[in-house]
Amino acid sequence: MPVPIIDPHGPTDTPLSEALHDAYAAGCAAAGDGAVANYIPELARADPGHFGLAVSSLDGAVTAHGDVDVPFTLQSVSKVFSLSAVACDRGLRCLDNVSVEPSGDAFHSIVLLEDEQGRPRNPFINAGAIAISERLPGGTSGDKIAGFRRWLQGIDPDRDFAVDAAVWDSECDTGFRNRALANYMRHFGVVEDPQLACDTYFKQCAIQTDARGLARLGLYLANRGRDPLSGRQVIDPGINSTLLALMTTCGLYDEVGHWAVEVGLPAKSGVSGGLLAVVPGRYSIAAYGPALGPKGNSAGGMAALRSLSRMLGLSLFA
Ligand code: DON
Repeated sequence: MPVPIIDPHGPTDTPLSEALHDAYAAGCAAAGDGAVANYIPELARADPGHFGLAVSSLDGAVTAHGDVDVPFTLQSVSKVFSLSAVACDRGLRCLDNVSVEPSGDAFHSIVLLEDEQGRPRNPFINAGAIAISERLPGGTSGDKIAGFRRWLQGIDPDRDFAVDAAVWDSECDTGFRNRALANYMRHFGVVEDPQLACDTYFKQCAIQTDARGLARLGLYLANRGRDPLSGRQVIDPGINSTLLALMTTCGLYDEVGHWAVEVGLPAKSGVSGGLLAVVPGRYSIAAYGPALGPKGNSAGGMAALRSLSRMLGLSLFA
């Protein structure tokens, strides 16, 4: 993929409504270039033509276009919230045997685990996220997920955050590679109970949201860990900084370099087509486009964010 040369400053005087309109059009156009995930069979039922974009400002104002109310499962976007919840409970000690380096590798890769004694490269690749899920408070996977849903509802009480049972079953039936990662980490003592870790992780990935809800949920990340609508400090500012750094360096796996150059924002993607991007001090932005590009990130979401960042000069590196 050639690296485009982009002026990161962009025409910053473009009104938000105009920039969003163009970004939505770019997202719809790019959605046609991708394909829905099918390695979790239930995800293949998504409509590749769906595309939605929601931008929430810190004052709670939401600008939305397209399929922002279509439900989807969080998949890997959940990893930002599970890490937040675990760090709330035990601080950044939760990263004691999970590193914070980008992997340069696919989200489900096992290769680096062998060289690095079962220590995951970061908490956003599957191996790292499975280890973090096991650390959610609670004894059983049921307790852990119930607690995690309550934690999410503590931010947005208007949402149920139900687990999509069909998607969950589908990943339970086919998640052999994730089970292999968990078993491999068990050998090195990074995970204690591979079955508990995977059950929890699969359920966490199957929690439902929509683009409007995801933009609402991400507001604390854009506001130094404090939810601007309730005024509640969801996580410490220091933990929030760590999360944003990890999202910036590891949030889009082996496409994160292109993302940094072309968009320049902390973000996290998921294989169901969700994409959350954060503009510190300004916006939480969610896109939903289940047609994915070659690295497993939403094709429409990436195109829309590229356009938005450029038009509004949002890049952290501008
Ligand atoms: O573990 C899996 O394969 C899925 N539950 C989540 C992967 C995912 O979303 C990767 N992100 N783009």
